[in-house]
Amino acid sequence: MKIGTKFIHAGVEPDPTTGAIMTPIYQTSTYVQEAPAQHKGYEYARSQNPTRTALEAALAAIENGRYGLAFSSGVAATDAVIKLLQPGDEVIAASDMYGGTYRLFSKVFEKFGIRFHYVNMQNAENVRPYINSNTKLVWTETPTNPLMNITDIAALAAITRQHKLLLCVDNTFASPYLQNPLDLGADIVMHSVTKYLGGHSDVIQGCLVMNDKDLREQLYFIQKSCGAVPGPMDCFLVLRGIKTLHVRMQRHCENGRKVAEWLRKHPKVGKVYWCGFEDHPNHDIAKKQMRDFGGMMSFTLKDDSVEEAKRVLSATRVFALAESLGGVESLINHPASMTHASIPREERIKNGLTDSLIRLSVGIEDVEDLIEDLKQAIG
Ligand SMILES: Cc1ncc(COP(=O)(O)O)c(C=O)c1O
Repeated sequence: MKIGTKFIHAGVEPDPTTGAIMTPIYQTSTYVQEAPAQHKGYEYARSQNPTRTALEAALAAIENGRYGLAFSSGVAATDAVIKLLQPGDEVIAASDMYGGTYRLFSKVFEKFGIRFHYVNMQNAENVRPYINSNTKLVWTETPTNPLMNITDIAALAAITRQHKLLLCVDNTFASPYLQNPLDLGADIVMHSVTKYLGGHSDVIQGCLVMNDKDLREQLYFIQKSCGAVPGPMDCFLVLRGIKTLHVRMQRHCENGRKVAEWLRKHPKVGKVYWCGFEDHPNHDIAKKQMRDFGGMMSFTLKDDSVEEAKRVLSATRVFALAESLGGVESLINHPASMTHASIPREERIKNGLTDSLIRLSVGIEDVEDLIEDLKQAIG
């Protein structure tokens, strides 16, 4: 099946009782049993819910995986992966990634005796010196939030396979339309479903997709034991969102390219971080593993002052100043004080995330309006 057909039909079957073409919202906490332990596969809604079952099948299909698990947020999905580990285990994680992931690793899990090494993964070989007998997991994000750095997933997977480590890829920025990490050798794909998969800024959700049955069983056990499950209404909204993912992503990519090229020519704009530029340091890898380059980008101003950046951030009228990304509407964000404020300043600066960096999530409005808006805001 081609990608658009798959996105529309994945996981959804006509409802067996009525023929409803959309999976109903099974708003229930429990299921009546005919006799003790005699039921239709559904016992209690933290463990199973039919709307969630349909969504999990859809998530697996669109990431070319066998199993999907949906969580109440992206960080809840990340949390479940780290709970596979024991005290004393070590993780090699990307040094440039979403601030909330860094916060979860460093502020929550370190105190349970799990050790994290933060490594620049623009060259996959950089992880090798950190591998030892305690290493269990490599965690990467590509493209990264917010600097659009690219990791070569296949090269990293060759290393993790050689050392029998799990490789988990946060695929939020690319979405399954642009990149499928399982096809490149990853063991687990993670998404903040809140972003492109939901697509309409109306739901918080996360997911994991994998091929290995044992891994699925371990993660399902964590999901039902810890309880970070999404409600059926949210699952329904994401099932609906996925049906238009390919059409939205095409427009995000088209608009993203035009906005990135326009920004780059603007006399007041300094550096533009977008992996579609041919001179992006890892453009060739992006081209190899992604179908297009998306609508996420960051930039600095030539007058690289925080004051000037804040003035621009407050001056847009179509781009809304807000956290999050991947919705139909364009957003502008200040990573240093918003999405990445939980990373200590010196760590941020070391990785190139300056106080004056501005991040854009280019939406699917008419691109002329987006450029006009940035023009009046930058001045
Ligand atoms: C790349 C990335 N991963 C994970 C998350 C966390 O997801 P959520 O906010 O759905 O918990 C985010 C949120 O911004 C993100 O951008």
